[in-house]
Amino acid sequence: MTQITPMMKQYEQIKAEYEDAFLFFRLGDFYELFHSDALEAARELEITLTKRGKGEQAIPMCGVPHHSSEQYISQLIEKGYKVAICEQTEDPAAAKGVVRREVVQVITPGTVMNGKALHEKNNQYVVGLRKDFDTYTVSAADMTTGEIFVTGVEEEILALEEALSYDPKEIVVDEGLSDGMDLKISSRTSVPLTILEGTSSFKNYENLLQDIPGDQMKDGAAQLLDYFSETTKRVLDHLQKAAYYEADQFLSIDSYSRRNLEITETMRDRKKAGSLLHVLDKTETAMGARRLKRWLERPAVHHETAEERQSLTSSFIDHFLERETVREQLRGVYDLERLSGRIAFGNVNGKDLIQLKKSLQQLPYLYETLHVLNNDYAEKLLSSLTTPEPLVELLENSIREDCPVSITEGNLIKDGYHSTLDEYRHAMKYGKDWIAELEAKEKKATGIKTLKVGFNKVFGYYIEVSRANLKNLPEGRYERKQTLTNAERYVTEELKEKETIILEAEEKGSKLEYELFLQVREEVKNYIRTLQSAAKAVSTIDVLQSFAVTAEANHYVKPEFTDKKHIELENSRHPVVEAMIDAGDYVANDLFMHEEREMLLITGPNMAGKSTYMRQLALIVVMAQAGSFVPADKAVLPLFDHIFTRIGAADDLSQGQSTFMVEMLETKQAVDRATSRSLILLDEIGRGTSTYDGMALAQAVIEYIHDDIRAMTLFSTHYHELTRLGTELKRMRNVHVSAKEENGTLTFLHKVVEGAADKSYGIHVAKLADLPDKLIQRAGEILEGLEKEAGHRQESISRNEEPYQQLSLFPEEAEHPVLNELKETDLLHLTPLEAMQILDKLQRKLK
Ligand SMILES: Nc1ncnc2c1ncn2[C@@H]1O[C@H](COP(=O)(O)OP(=O)(O)O)[C@@H](O)[C@H]1O
Ligand SMILES: [Mg+2]
Repeated sequence: MTQITPMMKQYEQIKAEYEDAFLFFRLGDFYELFHSDALEAARELEITLTKRGKGEQAIPMCGVPHHSSEQYISQLIEKGYKVAICEQTEDPAAAKGVVRREVVQVITPGTVMNGKALHEKNNQYVVGLRKDFDTYTVSAADMTTGEIFVTGVEEEILALEEALSYDPKEIVVDEGLSDGMDLKISSRTSVPLTILEGTSSFKNYENLLQDIPGDQMKDGAAQLLDYFSETTKRVLDHLQKAAYYEADQFLSIDSYSRRNLEITETMRDRKKAGSLLHVLDKTETAMGARRLKRWLERPAVHHETAEERQSLTSSFIDHFLERETVREQLRGVYDLERLSGRIAFGNVNGKDLIQLKKSLQQLPYLYETLHVLNNDYAEKLLSSLTTPEPLVELLENSIREDCPVSITEGNLIKDGYHSTLDEYRHAMKYGKDWIAELEAKEKKATGIKTLKVGFNKVFGYYIEVSRANLKNLPEGRYERKQTLTNAERYVTEELKEKETIILEAEEKGSKLEYELFLQVREEVKNYIRTLQSAAKAVSTIDVLQSFAVTAEANHYVKPEFTDKKHIELENSRHPVVEAMIDAGDYVANDLFMHEEREMLLITGPNMAGKSTYMRQLALIVVMAQAGSFVPADKAVLPLFDHIFTRIGAADDLSQGQSTFMVEMLETKQAVDRATSRSLILLDEIGRGTSTYDGMALAQAVIEYIHDDIRAMTLFSTHYHELTRLGTELKRMRNVHVSAKEENGTLTFLHKVVEGAADKSYGIHVAKLADLPDKLIQRAGEILEGLEKEAGHRQESISRNEEPYQQLSLFPEEAEHPVLNELKETDLLHLTPLEAMQILDKLQRKLK
């Protein structure tokens, strides 16, 4: 049997409670890791693996110094791990036996409060999922800002969508839900997932959860809050009252469409540059940047909300000077939201408090500037922008502007703030002055010019005389203290006395300063709510000034909202593409839809601009409902409830696993959920399969939307045959993106015009791509052949005839003579009378 030391026994007991985390076990100046933790950490952190003990019983171990532990912890967190910090919680000198140790905090990717893992312009949400009877509670909370959001949904897929919409850093799932749900989550995201056991009661958070309807949903949210307290092991005073919302309060954009439209990041490399957010973000504060992102992710569905925002944006456009002043003032405002979090967490230093003070000092000026605008919404925001004067005064009186990062080494507190501290400082100064004078006095008395007074940590203050000058020093003048090669060091009674005064004052002073600092910090906690409400106002103002800046710089227009099913865009542009190409090169397009023109079927050659045109509409809708102005000369829009976008499998390159099945599943989502108030964009769906299947499905989808859903829809297709539907279906029209063919080359005009495109230009595009002439020529011949052949076939099934299932019968079914004859009939060149005669003949043959 292996012998185990009492300390390792303690280690194992603690480790058993934190199986899913790296246990950082404090041993003196190091955090040590053991066993499998050590093996894994050594690999992940590239630190040396050692052993504790000898021979058979040696335990793998590795360690990081306490003072530089933060960087290692950060590294692990960024990789998605959890770290449990286990400290010595009693004085080792006083301990009987093994020093008591406890885990004081578990740092997880969703609850980390500082370091590289924390992005200032992104929220850091942890999402909790739980199910009671038929309702899923989805709670999302950002511990760095204290915000909490809660909603309830009825279906699993919606719960998952809602959870992912937060782009969470971590997901926690009630164990009752873990069956299957955890697998579904991990197939969609790689963020760490924790299964929570045990029950939670909202009773512990009555105030925070008072707006959440129903005890079950409250309990669901409480479970997430319990997770926060269990990991942080402290009271989080900055958590804000949970905001309850219903899913239909926002324009819903499912995760697929959000990604596809590149609203906040690009699809390929998940970068902000190249996204809509990037084009729109002219915010000056991190709080503003986070709010802008949230608005774009969850645009409004009520015109009041959007119009309120528009009104202040307009005002900022009209008042250039005030806007520039506001921008300048915003630059001076620190991240009050996250600061509140860190205040509650207890990890702000003197520098943070100075920045807090400076931020607060900006608020009255910001208030003044906005007040001039005389705007109702601005006034509403200003009502929560109160400057807590007593707090500013406290910070002004207490904290030194030039304070250090450390809070234990003094120089934090201003003179005049505390009389005892002043006395210590006075004593120090008196002592130091006396010593400075001593040097001059002794130089004179002994005539030794190089005599000096110095200080070191071991011997304290001393008088130093070089060896060469020793002969000039009267015997017995000083008491010898230390001998160096070239000098002797001495002290005197009086010097020691003064030294004691100085050192004592210094030590007591730093200690007192630390205590005073903690008092100030504690006092600041009382203002967390005020800071948070100021943060809300400031961040909103910031987003709206940013909207004004982009509107002006990019020539956006204020969209008008209508209750009717009506879209009117004049000279509209794609905000991101427009920003990427040279000014003036973007071809603006109109878009006009209404009750009688609910669907547009868009044709045109590859690379003409079909996809761009469709996304352009979606982005304009998102911008408008988020409250921004839009890239157009005129814009009238309804308020949509959902946006669905589906891209044909072949176009969706970024998704390696993209298959026809996935495309169909996504289409099903749109077809299942869309309402008559939704916007649907279907970009070449049906591409992922063989021509006939694809075309049949595309047509069926169009018909279904047209007849049963009645959502406004843009549908692009390369199945030229489908353009027939544009004339057949009552509320669908053909448009095409024009291109000009001249001497066998193709110029893209990017202009959208009425009617169907006449022909596929694929081969010309190949020519543009410089494929060999011989190859192009051959393709031309093949095309001609195919077209001839197609002329003998029926191109697509008109909806008034047989249902399209029969399409699959075509190729292999044994040929009935009637079928054969029917197939050979060239319908396009028959008069109605001839057609009747043929039908009559065929029918008689069958009888
Ligand atoms: N209105 C426009 N003005 C200028 N360039 C455009 C316009 N529309 C599209 N483009 C450019 O043309 C290219 C092809 O556009 P895309 O929408 O992908 O074509 P399609 O979907 O028809 O194949 C893109 O690189 C895009 O930047
Ligand atoms: Mg396309």
